[in-house]
Amino acid sequence: MQIVHHLPDLRRAVAALRTGGARVALVPTMGALHAGHMALIDAARATGAKVVASIFVNPKQFGPNEDLSRYPRPAEADKALLIAHGCDLLWMPGVDDMYPAGFATNVSVSGVSAGLDGAARPGHFDGVATVVSKLFNQVGPDAAFFGEKDFQQLAVIRRMVADLDVDLEIVGVPTVRESDGLALSSRNVYLSADERARAVALPRALAEAKRAIEAGESGALDAAMASMAAAGFVTDYVSLVDAGTLSEPQVGRPRRLLAAAKIGTTRLIDNLHVDP
Ligand code: PAF
Repeated sequence: MQIVHHLPDLRRAVAALRTGGARVALVPTMGALHAGHMALIDAARATGAKVVASIFVNPKQFGPNEDLSRYPRPAEADKALLIAHGCDLLWMPGVDDMYPAGFATNVSVSGVSAGLDGAARPGHFDGVATVVSKLFNQVGPDAAFFGEKDFQQLAVIRRMVADLDVDLEIVGVPTVRESDGLALSSRNVYLSADERARAVALPRALAEAKRAIEAGESGALDAAMASMAAAGFVTDYVSLVDAGTLSEPQVGRPRRLLAAAKIGTTRLIDNLHVDP
């Protein structure tokens, strides 16, 4: 696996990967890689494309009181995982490579980024949309792979790509979970053993709410919040929305149940498909 840190080297390396007409798939990440990220790499590889991963802890998507400074950065372990999964090229820019002096552009996607995490984390999705636009322009991939665990992020990126006529395919990959149901996340390393044991209340509450909603029972969202509170979560939201627009659910359309909550100082998110 080739590793590049500066844009001219990236452009040369991507051009070399394309020799012979190969397609290029991009897997954008912030590192601290786990099996969820590897599912993205594996899905990208399975298309037959050359796989470019990026690792960049993007300061623009962290709020002032969030975990930018302590976000895990296990670079050597990340590289080993990417090599083991057959990644072809790793793009690891520094902050000055991504945002050189004078950088003044913000990409903002309205509507789909307004509620849920957009409301709880002001500016977060502008930071995501800005860096993902840059990554698309830097790498020029034919396809890009994102996890469904960050469901609103995926919706924001799909909207941005459609609105800006970006010529690439966005592929969403199902969430990878621990055996007890907790969604894999780079932030799970923050959990103490006790918090980790209690964190399973989040996926369990969502699974029960999904069952209740699909069975036509009322009070499912309140019940989910109550069981999460009983496990010690402080809930930002548990919300049922239209799976495409993330606004009010529409009759006959796919729905998504999303939740965000803090256990101790760690904020976790999760979501499930809900049948129309
Ligand atoms: O999902 C992530 O890891 C990040 O939000 C992304 C898409 C790499 C942008 O920084």
